[in-house]
Formats: sequence, C-alpha cells, structure tokens
Amino acid sequence: MADHRRTVKRFPKDFLWGAATSAHQVEGKLQNDWRAWEVANANRLAKEAPDAYQYVSPVWKEIEHEATAPANYLSGRAADQAHRYQEDVALMRKLHLNAYRFSIDWARVEPEEGTFSQAGIQYYIDLVRALRSAKIEPMVTLWHWPLPLWLRDKGGWEWSESPQRFARFAKVIADALGNRVRLWNTLNEVNVYATFSYLTGSWPPAKRNVWAYERVLRHLADAHRLAYQCLKTTNPQAQVGIAHSISDIQSGDRSPLTALTRWLADWSWNRRFLNMIRDDLDFIGANCYFRNVVRGIRRNQNENRRTSDLGWELYPASILGALQTAGSYGKPVYITENGLADRNDAQRAWYIAETLRYVHQAIEEGIDVRGYFHWSLLDNFEWDKGFWPRFGLIDVNRKTLDRTIRPSAYLYAKIARSNALIAP
Ligand code: FCB
Repeated sequence: MADHRRTVKRFPKDFLWGAATSAHQVEGKLQNDWRAWEVANANRLAKEAPDAYQYVSPVWKEIEHEATAPANYLSGRAADQAHRYQEDVALMRKLHLNAYRFSIDWARVEPEEGTFSQAGIQYYIDLVRALRSAKIEPMVTLWHWPLPLWLRDKGGWEWSESPQRFARFAKVIADALGNRVRLWNTLNEVNVYATFSYLTGSWPPAKRNVWAYERVLRHLADAHRLAYQCLKTTNPQAQVGIAHSISDIQSGDRSPLTALTRWLADWSWNRRFLNMIRDDLDFIGANCYFRNVVRGIRRNQNENRRTSDLGWELYPASILGALQTAGSYGKPVYITENGLADRNDAQRAWYIAETLRYVHQAIEEGIDVRGYFHWSLLDNFEWDKGFWPRFGLIDVNRKTLDRTIRPSAYLYAKIARSNALIAP
C-alpha cells in the first residue's frame, strides 16, 4: 500500500488539463492572408513534398498520396469546428478536460478595416458560453498568425499602425468576452512566426529581410503591450500572457564554442522577445515540442532515436528544461502546447505520460506550472504542411469530418480525471 502511494504523482489542485487549437487550423472557410497564400502555393508544396518529407518521415509510404496532392495544402473546411463546436465541447467533457485553448480569427471579426462583424464576434461568444456551461475554462489567444487581407495589404506587422490596429481589435474582443474569459494569450509564437515569415520566407508574406524581421518583432511587442493594458482595463481579474515557443537548448559537448552558441541560441530564440515584454506579463505560456542540441556552431544535433511522423525528435525530458527557462521569469507558467504528429497513435500515450512525469518534476522543483494543453484536440490543418500530420487526440475523418477519439486520449482523460499520474 505504502509503495503504491509513493508512485502516485499528484498535480496541484485546480491544475488545468486542456487541449489547444487555433482558429485557422480548425474552424474552416476563413478568408485571411494564409488562405490566399495557400491558394497560390498548394501546387508548389505538393511538388516539393517528396524532398521535404520522404527522408524525415517514418511514415512516408503511408502519407505519400496525401502529401503530394495539392488539396492537402488548402485549409478549406479544416475540421469544421465553426459548425461542430458543440460536438467538440461534448468530446472535451467526455475526455474530462477542464480547459480549452483556442484563438480568434482577426479576419472573421474585422473583415474590413474598422468594420466589425457582429456575427463573427457572436461565434466566439457562443463558443465561450458552450465551454462555460460544460465547466471548461476558456483560454483565448487573440492572434495565432493569420491576418485580415486589408492588413496584409497595408504591410501586415511591418506597418507602423499595426500595433494600434491590433489594440482596437483586442478592445472589441475584450468588450465582447472580457467578463467571461479570465485567461488570455495576446500572441502565439512570435519567434516562430517572425522566423518563417520574415527570415526563411517559407510562410506568408514570404520575405527574407532581417530589417523587416526586426521591425515586425518591435511592432509585435508594442501590440502585446497595448492589448495587455486593454484586457486588464476591461477586466482587472484577467490573466494575460503570451504563448511562446520555448525549446530546451542543450550543449552536446563541453567546448567553449558550444557554450557560446548555446547561450546565443537560448537568448535569441527563448528569451529575447520575453525580455521585451516581461513587465506586461501575468504568466508565461510555453509551447514545448523540442530540445535542440548544439555542437560547436551547429544546432539541431539531436540524436533522433525516436521521432514523430514529421521527423521531429520525441524527447519528453526536454520539457523540463523548457519549464526551467520559462520559470526563470518568476511568473506562473502554463504549457500552452505540447504534442506530436502520430497518425497511428503508436507513440502518443507514451509521449504524454513521459512528458507529464517531467512536468510533475518541474512542479516539485518549485516551478509554478498551472496547466497543460495538449496540441491538439483534433486533427487539423498544419500550416504549410497541410492536413497529413495528425496531431489530434481526436481523429478527424478527412471526408466526413467525423470525430473518433484515439486510444491515447483515454489515457490522457484518465490522468485529467484523477489529477494524478500513476507511475508504473
Ligand atoms: C506550433 C503552432 C501550432 C501547431 C504546432 C504543431 O508551432 O503554434 O499552431 O502548428 O506547432
């Protein structure tokens, strides 16, 4: 009996057990800059798929027909959550989740500059109401990457007025949802977005320009600060943070050059943006997927013993390093994303259980971790990779859009329900 008790790892009371999505990836039929970019790039992405995936994906044979079809790269109906949110809320309940992180599509709410769509706003009011009546805590992300077309045409985040426009949008959402929502992320993964959209050119607006990159970071920091003030003014109880991609950057050897590269990578990827906004943050949302082993000046020297369908290394212990980084700011931490592409559901249960063991360790070390949001609730549209990577706790049939709970989700549900991990 005593032995048994010792192996039960309990989580703090009121710990949030959630799942995460973003508007563009699940709602369907959105009209924003991403969609325009998809239409222009679907054929190219389908052609490039063999080079992009066949050497990294362990399931290439299974996905080849999907990944080489242009339709894979068009978000279309996505997971059709816009019409099926009630069903999705019921599924969350069935899985004993007590929190859901989702985002607002800016273009749905403000399709023309300065003109706000009552129907667009009402959709999110209805979603929050459905969550609240199911006793599921909403965590809202104001911006998870796509932009309205009018804003794209003005230069997107490069435009000097973009922070003020974001603040105006934030105010409309705060007025609509402010007293029903307590947990907010202003922005999602600024570091990832700015890198792929302005340095490598792989995402819209597909630029490679370090000055544009710097300008965008500055404007996003201003946008965050303005939205933070606005959300706090509307509801002083609101807790406002950011969802930030944090990677556990590890030294692969003891050389001074490696130590220097590690420090620089940690600063530029993990800390730089957080440092810019640290005075206006109630918590840190950590999106944790990776470690990054550095050797000399080389990054990504990971062992890759176990990988996901995307070829990303599965190394659950890395969440501890990420949480230590997030925790070093002395604020509460939520794991706002963590998950894997695993269409056969062969590794997800193992990955979740192992990851949560390290989350528990982080809590024992004194880091104030308040919740875990698995990415993702549903299979969805994975940006420039399209639909073939399956991140969902719930499988979504691509033709019928029917939902089926994957076996690993039941393990997660058991952990959520008991608020504890029973170690083997
Ligand atoms: C994160 C994004 C999220 C999803 C996961 C797999 O970088 O925030 O939308 O694409 O990766």
